[in-house]
Amino acid sequence: MKYAFFGAAALALCATNAHAGTATRAPFGALADGSKVEAVTLTNGAGVSALIMTLGATLQSLIVPDKAGHKDDVVLGYDTAQEYLSHPDYFGASVGRYANRIAKGKFTLDGKSYTLATNDGPNSLHGGLKGFDKRMWKIDSVTSGPEAKAVFSYVSADGEEGFPGELKVTVTYSLNEQNELKLEYRATTSKPTVLNLTNHSYFNLSGNDARDVMGNMVTLHAERFTPVDATLIPTGERRGVAGTVLDFRNSHQVGDRIRDAREQQLRYGRGYDHNFIVDGAAGTLRPAAVVSEPVSGRTLELSTTAPGVQFYTGNFLDGTFFGKGQRAYRQGDAICLEPGVFPDSPNHPDFPTSRLNPGQNYVNTIVYRFSAR
Ligand code: BGC
Repeated sequence: MKYAFFGAAALALCATNAHAGTATRAPFGALADGSKVEAVTLTNGAGVSALIMTLGATLQSLIVPDKAGHKDDVVLGYDTAQEYLSHPDYFGASVGRYANRIAKGKFTLDGKSYTLATNDGPNSLHGGLKGFDKRMWKIDSVTSGPEAKAVFSYVSADGEEGFPGELKVTVTYSLNEQNELKLEYRATTSKPTVLNLTNHSYFNLSGNDARDVMGNMVTLHAERFTPVDATLIPTGERRGVAGTVLDFRNSHQVGDRIRDAREQQLRYGRGYDHNFIVDGAAGTLRPAAVVSEPVSGRTLELSTTAPGVQFYTGNFLDGTFFGKGQRAYRQGDAICLEPGVFPDSPNHPDFPTSRLNPGQNYVNTIVYRFSAR
């Protein structure tokens, strides 16, 4: 009986796989200036599908079944491409050249000073005024199969947004039958430069933003984090999470301690908005975080090669953003997990380097694995 059961299950799996793994390319409307936006949809046999549009190489939607098999979109965003430019908040975007903050928009490299636009109080945030999230990327290739994938590319001119070197960037999105959506950011440069590329998806595993994320259970594989000042720039310290409200080494409910104003770090961030130092060796793919939503039963496991992950609880969503299906996005409606080097690394020589030299290959691999039970 047992044998027969597994046989049937295996057959069912084969049958599903026969139709699995498609990558299709289609128009995704146009911007107000008339430029056309395209998208690729990756779909697997288990009912997961990801739509990535050329504006910002943005993950615009991510459909994942819940424990009952019901499919929902688990990322925040907009219905139309133009809204991503009109009300930018980096929903699902590929962020660059430098994800997160650079203090006062200034850094020096090989003795030369560089000045960036300050677009977040006194600091530069997420690549400046027109970062990679607001650029039109090209679709280089689209491949169906058990690992359906699409490669997007963008060439950033020498000096763009104040950064040195012509930067050639690709991001490969791939989806397999194990419900793993993998993103691989790669770059080369013509001159020494600094960079930090990541994806800025806002996850709400309840699907279609049915509930806020305060009831989500979160594990962060991080013994330490980098404390920040009032403008969210790291002080340079690497502080142990033990005994603090930033201790997520064991699964913890997000909302449990988020209002604990005795923790200065939570006051600065208005909640969690911190870079956690992922345990283990940077450069190797290793687990960084787990998020579970108890009602839908969905779980997201994040792995990355990056040294850190910014854990952000949507603290600056203030109800003035109306997302997909005209839903108002409010504080605490999503969790962002942004793997990368640490914020403001160009100004912290003892942080893992954000420097890229000509001839070197930059790689940041991010894997989101979904399950439901
Ligand atoms: C930052 C937040 C910021 C958000 C949206 C996150 O990476 O840490 O402070 O509000 O991005 O820009």
